Amino acid sequence: MQALRGPLNYDEEPSRHLSLIINAKDPFNAETPRAALVESYVTPVDMFFKRNHGPIPILDDPQRYRVTVDGLVPKPLLLSMDDIRLLPKYTVTATLQCAGNRRTPMSKTKLVKGVGWDVGAVGNAVWGGAKLSDLLKLASIPENTANTEAGGKHVEFTSVDACEEENGGPYKASVSLLHATNPKADVLLAYEMNGKVLNRDHGYPLRVAIPGVIGARSVKWLDRIDVIANDFQGFFMQKDYKMFPPNVDWDNINWLSRRPLMDFPVQVNISGYALSGGGRGIERVDVSVDGGETWIEARRYQKNKVPYLADSEECDKWAWVFFELETEIYPPTDIIAKAVDSSANVQPEKVETIWNLRGVLNNSWHVIHANSPAKATHLSL
Ligand code: MTE
Repeated sequence: MQALRGPLNYDEEPSRHLSLIINAKDPFNAETPRAALVESYVTPVDMFFKRNHGPIPILDDPQRYRVTVDGLVPKPLLLSMDDIRLLPKYTVTATLQCAGNRRTPMSKTKLVKGVGWDVGAVGNAVWGGAKLSDLLKLASIPENTANTEAGGKHVEFTSVDACEEENGGPYKASVSLLHATNPKADVLLAYEMNGKVLNRDHGYPLRVAIPGVIGARSVKWLDRIDVIANDFQGFFMQKDYKMFPPNVDWDNINWLSRRPLMDFPVQVNISGYALSGGGRGIERVDVSVDGGETWIEARRYQKNKVPYLADSEECDKWAWVFFELETEIYPPTDIIAKAVDSSANVQPEKVETIWNLRGVLNNSWHVIHANSPAKATHLSL
């Protein structure tokens, strides 16, 4: 019951920052330039990457906007924005990353299919809104529930946009009910981004923000929340955003053989961010300036360069960690950075070992070739 369904053409797209790197125009897909990524811990909204599968909806009548909560719930609901704002408000600093981030470098091993992203399909924002676990309590589903009496085990989010992949239907995704009702998972129905009302590109008036999980599950322009028995059976969960071993190609793919991607893996980027999914902290970032012969631990920080400790309560566990190192480099050489997360997961060395036909979850070591001769250099990786 929206003010308007998503438009079917691209005539009324919002205006965007000219510095964004546009990878596809209609639908609009653009990433943050490398240098801007580590300029600020919280990514400015206009520089934040934008990932869309259809034209940007126009929901410009907040009074008529409603979110339906239905399906296998004890108590169905129809909520206005005022109802959602009445729930306790939380702010969560969380890094959103597209599963296809770093797809273009993966294509150097062997061509993969999908929008080409360099390293900037990732950004860190302060999301403000209600917790999904609180909203589900209104529908009489208590915290930490794995299944409802009616057999609901997953929570499906439906948008209002029109996506080609869904034959003109809306974008959808789901998470497990246990994840959705876990207050510690910090799943938000966000109406604010970096302290301001969410803008159209990022899901106005309401979007889902699921920390630590690939961006594809954080549905924008929310229309419905349905509790369902199985995970969402449509395109974006079953025929996309899955990871296959390197031997699978388009002629022998069996989509049913793999589960939909959820947590993003441990990774680091040579330009200075490290992150891991599932709320796992970054235990260490090792940097090599001699092509992997020797490694030096980098200094890690989040806010104001305060030293970062992976398990500290003070840290933003859903957010990326910046790292920095001062050392001498002797080009020509390879500069490499790799992170270890708090569950002792280490980034894999070679992209070849994780190559997959859709080019998702490239968390291999990021290698920068330093060619120009320099004596002592201050590296801000
Ligand atoms: N939600 C809707 N309704 N439509 C979309 O195309 N794209 C998803 C997700 N939510 C998408 C969506 C993907 S793949 C990503 S990575 C994130 O939104 C990107 O969010 P952003 O554009 O706010 O950065």
